[in-house]
Amino acid sequence: MFENLEPVVADAILGLMAAFRADADARKVDLGVGVYRDDRGETPVLDAVRRAEELLLRSQTTKAYVGPAGSPGFNQAMEQLVFGASHPALAAKRVRSMQAPGGCGALRLGAELIRLAAPGAVVHVSNPTWVNHVPLLSGAGLKIQPYPYLDVASGAVQFEAMTAAFGKLPPRSVVLLHASCHNPTGADLSQSQWRELLAIVRTRELLPFIDMAYQGLGEGVEEDAFGLRLFCAQLPEVLCAVSCSKNFGLYRERVGVLHLVSASPAAGNAAASQLVRSARSMWSMPPDHGGSVVQIILTDQALRAQWLEELAQMRRRIQGLRSEAVRQLASTCPQRDFTFIARQRGMFSYLGITTAQVRALREHHHVYMTDDSRMNLAGLRRENLAYFAQAVAQVLA
Ligand SMILES: Cc1ncc(COP(=O)(O)O)c(C=O)c1O
Repeated sequence: MFENLEPVVADAILGLMAAFRADADARKVDLGVGVYRDDRGETPVLDAVRRAEELLLRSQTTKAYVGPAGSPGFNQAMEQLVFGASHPALAAKRVRSMQAPGGCGALRLGAELIRLAAPGAVVHVSNPTWVNHVPLLSGAGLKIQPYPYLDVASGAVQFEAMTAAFGKLPPRSVVLLHASCHNPTGADLSQSQWRELLAIVRTRELLPFIDMAYQGLGEGVEEDAFGLRLFCAQLPEVLCAVSCSKNFGLYRERVGVLHLVSASPAAGNAAASQLVRSARSMWSMPPDHGGSVVQIILTDQALRAQWLEELAQMRRRIQGLRSEAVRQLASTCPQRDFTFIARQRGMFSYLGITTAQVRALREHHHVYMTDDSRMNLAGLRRENLAYFAQAVAQVLA
């Protein structure tokens, strides 16, 4: 049966991770992998998470199944975090939520629902977008097409080209949007751009599928949800795939949620029953541990405050590294403008160098990033910023 299967070419990022591990040079810098790192280069378990886990261990009385939609308490706590407590879609009972294995699970579940409602639907994704969007959405049978997004020269969103493309889409096209901290570019929509986009999405009757994997890591928990909340308040239908991997540091626990905003409570109930059936056919039900931890944190005042503070520390560290990287690069590469790095948000930016220069950085300076020059700024440390800036200057010379 399996003898004729061809091996799949390994993911480039896995090869990069292996090469980094094998590199014995003490100066090596890993800007490849997409996880947050602290100033010691570690991805720690948050204190709020540890304390919630202790509480959970003491209070949990059963490991019985939770059900395909996951824990109602978790889903409700996430609705409040994502939409904000008094959101009109919540008040109108138009939101249905499904706990899912990570943001990936939520994206896949949303894609399944789109396929059921509109077989052959096309999802329009930003150019570029997170590489995993493609297998997650096309694996559910959806077609994928890019829309213009990054203006490489300015490092900002090519908003005119983007809106012009949206303005030509047929009704019921799906548009995948990153809520904040766009991966891989760091270029986000401003509040006025979200408002402008809303008008086009409404007139063209497009379905927004919003991916929020970095709430709180850009400008703040409320600020990063601005576009999502606006769209969900103003449009009849929106899908939101939310991940708790980064902002709670719960990567391997696989915690996420899909929120569906539908036109009416009755439509929401029908769609929710389809979502339950899809979940049953894929993973039956989501893992519980990480979701319970999130639920405890969000519903306990002291733990929530502690988590918000730890999240703010991560955010401030990333913002600090962004401005410091710009400062150092300005002194080592005065001929080139890297100020876009400080204007972008979240963990990622494109450095904007060629593949040959990326490889030279790796081979001669032990600085690792993907060939397209996407770098995870959280992989930098105060102590190696100067080294990084000198290495970049040398490959650009
Ligand atoms: C843009 C984006 N969406 C979704 C995810 C999903 O993350 P997870 O499935 O680990 O929660 C990620 C993770 O890197 C991401 O960068």
